[in-house]
Amino acid sequence: MSQQNADALDVERIRGEFPILEREFEGQRLVYLDNAATTQTPEVVVEAMSDYYRETNANVHRGIHQLSQEASICYEEAHDRVAEFVGASGGREELIFTKNTTESENLLAYAWGLRELGPGDEVVLTEMEHHASLVTWQQIAERTGATCRYIRITDDGRLDEEHARECITDETAIVSVVHVSNTLGTVNPVADLAALAHDHDALIFVDGAQAVPNRPVDVEAIDADFYAFSGHKMAGPTGIGCLYGKKHLLEDLDPFLYGGGMIRKVTFEESTWGDLPWKFEPGTPPIAEAVGLHAAVDYLEGIGMDRIREHEESLAAYAYERLDAEGDVDLYGPEPGPDRSGLVGFNLESVHAHDLASIMNDHAVAIRAGDHCTQPLHDRLGVAASARASFYIYNTREEVDALVEAIDSARQLFA
Ligand SMILES: Cc1ncc(COP(=O)(O)O)c(C=O)c1O
Repeated sequence: MSQQNADALDVERIRGEFPILEREFEGQRLVYLDNAATTQTPEVVVEAMSDYYRETNANVHRGIHQLSQEASICYEEAHDRVAEFVGASGGREELIFTKNTTESENLLAYAWGLRELGPGDEVVLTEMEHHASLVTWQQIAERTGATCRYIRITDDGRLDEEHARECITDETAIVSVVHVSNTLGTVNPVADLAALAHDHDALIFVDGAQAVPNRPVDVEAIDADFYAFSGHKMAGPTGIGCLYGKKHLLEDLDPFLYGGGMIRKVTFEESTWGDLPWKFEPGTPPIAEAVGLHAAVDYLEGIGMDRIREHEESLAAYAYERLDAEGDVDLYGPEPGPDRSGLVGFNLESVHAHDLASIMNDHAVAIRAGDHCTQPLHDRLGVAASARASFYIYNTREEVDALVEAIDSARQLFA
């Protein structure tokens, strides 16, 4: 993508909407390149949440007083808006609010997996899954006697499609696949995998934590049975995540957590469950966070998801190119292209990723270093840790240059 298109995003105006980006550390302006961990929050989201606390705060679905009714409407409308954002035509009934992607994953694995899986059943994952999926399915498989299989990746960080066809069979009960890898940046062919899973009467769960923030996602076009993502990675607040599920599948599931707000009728002997999505949202839910997520979705759509994707891909391609030119930087994941997202995983040959991140910090450049909750993938790559620079709507090419300069200093320091 050309710089002209990146400029079309009006990055300077966008930066002005994120006051945190003005922070300086020892006189150096913050360069925030840890967006795959958590994105920054624009003023409109902060304001929506503080307005809510100033003017509307009450518990939902409990009171008949005016404030409670208003808070309930805000909370319900947030479900509808987020459902619409990811193409769920069933609206709120198909969109459950959770704490984060991890809880969405656990909800599904406990509610569906414990009931449906047994010896002989297979859960098909990929070698690039985040621990949120991988560890959860491992645990459920251990309890039910099911088996986990892993679709291999190729040396250039793509899914091995032939191996996918070998792994997904009539024994497969569910395929659990990450839409965009948080370590490699790979964009997986989730619609093809969904078709493959359905050909074998299996379900598919897609971990969209790194996809929904930065590209248009249509869960129905993918034909995902379940799809999860987190508010804090998409300009929204922490404390809220989402699980999309096809209505008939959610109707058929029993709750994962129990308590108030999710029931229809309770006696000393038994209980029955309320309507979707409330039967999966017991207790006081993240109401202000839902208001914030609603505002974040409005904000992102106002910018345009296609433009966000183009901007990020352009920065990642530029970073990839500059790091590759360094000569002593190992890069992970596919080369820039349509199946690569806006993050770059790498290692400087002579410096451990943690040391590198620490030196970057001295330059006010915030990156992530470690295993990124993908330890088995790092084993597959043959490294214990990697560094990761991940971009969002407010990042610039100059910040990529700052990243490369900081790498140069690290090299000199360790020479
Ligand atoms: C691909 C992927 N899945 C799941 C998660 C877990 O998200 P959360 O910590 O919001 O539950 C992350 C977070 O980094 C991620 O990148």
